[in-house]
Order: sequence, then C-alpha cells, then structure tokens
Amino acid sequence: MCKKIMFVFGTRPEAIKMCPLVRELQQDADFHTVVCVTGQHRSMLRQVLDTFHITPQYDLDIMKQNQTLFDITADILLNIRTVLEQEKPDVLLVHGDTSTTFSAALAAFYLQIPVGHVEAGLRTYDLSAPFPEEFNRQAVSIVAKYNFAPTLQAKENLLQEGKKAESIFVTGNTAIDALSTTVREDYTHEQLSWVTEPMKDGSDRKFILLTAHRRENLGAPLHRCFQAIRRIMEENRDVRVLYPIHLNPKVREAAKEEFSGCDQIRLIEPLDVLDFHNFMARAYLILTDSGGIQEEAPSLGKPVLVLRDTTERPEGVAAGTLKLVGSDPEVIYQSCNALLHDKAAYDAMAKASNPYGDGTACRQIAQILKTL
Ligand code: UD1
Ligand code: UDP
Repeated sequence: MCKKIMFVFGTRPEAIKMCPLVRELQQDADFHTVVCVTGQHRSMLRQVLDTFHITPQYDLDIMKQNQTLFDITADILLNIRTVLEQEKPDVLLVHGDTSTTFSAALAAFYLQIPVGHVEAGLRTYDLSAPFPEEFNRQAVSIVAKYNFAPTLQAKENLLQEGKKAESIFVTGNTAIDALSTTVREDYTHEQLSWVTEPMKDGSDRKFILLTAHRRENLGAPLHRCFQAIRRIMEENRDVRVLYPIHLNPKVREAAKEEFSGCDQIRLIEPLDVLDFHNFMARAYLILTDSGGIQEEAPSLGKPVLVLRDTTERPEGVAAGTLKLVGSDPEVIYQSCNALLHDKAAYDAMAKASNPYGDGTACRQIAQILKTL
C-alpha cells in the first residue's frame, strides 16, 4: 500500500537537505508525498524550492523581521495543527535542529503521528552552543520513532542516550547527494571572476569564502570575527573575500560596520545553492560558523576554519579538513595566516574526504521507509 510521507521544513539548510529526498520519494510509486513549509525563512527558502522545482502543498508563512524564538516556536505549533490533522501522514519527516524541526516534531507528538528524524544524532552536549539547536535536536530525539543518522558517531550518540538500535539507520548525509550534481568544471560567475582575478604581477589571488549567522555569535563575537578578517585582508593584499550574507538584519549591520571602506571584500546576496557549491569548490579556504558547510567542505577538500568553539560534526575535524577557531580574533588571525603562508599547514587540511556518506542517503532513506 502507498505510504503517505509528509515533509516539514522551513529554513535554507533544511530545504537543501530535504528537497533531494522529496524528489526521490516523488519519483517512487510506493509513496504519496506532502510538503509543508513553515516559511521560517522566506526568500532563502524560496531560492532552494525554486532550484529543486518543488511546490509545497502548504506554506505556514510565519517569518517576521527579527523574529524571536517565541514567535517561531509558537506560530508553527499553532498553525501546523490543522495541517497534520487534515493530512494524517503515516510518517512525518523533519530535518536537523531548527525551531521548525522542534515545533513540527512536538506537534506530531501531540497528535501521535510517527516522526522520522533526518540528520539525527548530532550532538555537542552543550545546550548553549549551538543555541538553541542543541536543545532542538535532543528534544526531537525524544519523540522520533525513526532516526536517520548521517554517521556511525551520530548513531553511537543515540545509542548512548538509550534509543533502540532498530530505530536507527546510518545513511550518510543527504547534503552530499546534492553536491554530486551541483559542482561543474565549466562554471563561471561574475563575482568569481573578481575574487580570483590575478594580481598585477601575474601571481594568484587567494579567495576566502565567508559565511556567519549563528545566534550565539550575534553581537560582540561576530564583530571580533569580522575584525580579525579585516586585519588579514589589510596585511595580505593578495586576499579577496566574498561574503554571501545571511538576510538577518543583525548580521548585515555588523558586517557593514566592520567592512565598510575595504575594497578586498564584497558583501553579496545569499547565493543559490548551485552557485554556492561552485564557489566553495573554487575557494582557497572557507571561514564559517555554518553547520551544513562543515559537511560539504570535506568532500571538496577545502580547509575550513570554523568560527565556533564546539562542533557537532567531529568527523570533519578528525578528517583534518575542519579546525575550530571560535571568535577569538588572535586565534582566527593566526590560523588564517598559517593557511595563507605555510604550504605544509595548508596541504595538511586540503584533503578530500567523505565522512558524511557516499551520496546515496536519499535512496537509502526511501528504501528504509518502505520497510517500516
Ligand atoms: C535559522 C536556524 C538555524 C539555522 C539557520 C540557517 C533556528 C532557531 N535557527 O537561524 O539553526 O542555522 O536558520 O540559516 O531555527 N531573514 C529574512 N529572510 C530569509 C531568512 C531570514 O529576512 O529568507 C531574516 C529575518 O529578519 C529573520 C532573521 O533573518 O527574522 C533570522 O531568521 P531566523 O530563522 O530566526 O534565524 P537564523 O539565524 O536564520
Ligand atoms: N548556502 C547557500 N547559499 C549561501 C550560503 C550557503 O546555498 O549563500 C548553503 C550551503 O551550501 C549549505 C547551507 O546553505 O548547504 C548552509 O546553510 P546555513 O549556513 O544557512 O545554515 P546551517 O547549515 O548553519 O544550519
């Protein structure tokens, strides 16, 4: 019998990792799919839906400027109830650790709808970092009936917490599924031409790709990170930085304040995922506090300095591609300089590895859903 699988997601990273799975299930006659987006993000979500040609059946459209955690959590919980009651899916799939993920899983729990958690088992065990994501994912694990873990480490975390082994499936991360189709040899972009333009003496530029948005970094930590990056640019004229900047007004204000008047950086609008993956593939190094980028960069062999003190993605650190540098400007400056000037240090990090799966996570999840 055809299974009704409902997807709920609301932010850019959830969409990037869920849309390939939606496509996989849509092509399979064993499933009837329903997509509900919460609209926690509006335009950054729309970008991804357009890229994957997905039209949601429901859009809760809850985003507000400078929304608080109260707004997001309460608005989703109240609005999703009627959708779930109407659709009564066999399984509700949520992804990762956002407030959308938490609220949707909680609503499904209240209605006793089985929850499948994609990207289950990531942990820092520090509820303050990332905030509030560590709480969200732990809370979702309490109610999830099916756990799709990206790695053995994630499975191990869930087992330690008492989840039953038969409820956990190690599939790899669906983010890697998308990468195989997005990165292209012949890709070009106007901003890439600027950022990689050779120096006047013919020597190469070094292109740093920057993203930052985490809630716990807003305010002073973000300013410290940006100050360190500005110092790097001032002391290394061959460095150019592209910063596709998150639409959060707080992030935009901080960036404008710290980078104004600097001609080695361009603050650009958020990129489509296809563009962003191709930019990553051509970067010399990446500076980020993003979660998803920590998963994608290792398979592209790009060194990442992670602007955070903790990570739930230790596999990339173990593989040597990721290094945690927090928001201490001196640590960021020294680590960046080492990668710019010490070839051995650079080569030690610039190794392609694939700790997050072989790009078949969506197919594996589809097969597992059939057997449940
Ligand atoms: C959210 C997630 C975070 C995830 C991030 C991915 C929570 C609590 N946080 O954080 O886990 O890493 O998304 O990017 O779930 N905005 C727009 N247009 C958009 C998107 C955002 O204008 O398309 C602005 C709005 O003013 C909004 C603000 O950004 O109020 C912050 O968005 P919000 O979803 O609350 O937090 P993020 O930092 O994006
Ligand atoms: N990304 C994108 N455009 C951008 C910046 C990032 O498509 O301008 C992609 C990136 O490839 C990754 C995801 O967005 O797949 C990460 O999202 P984000 O950093 O917003 O959230 P996080 O992963 O930290 O939750």
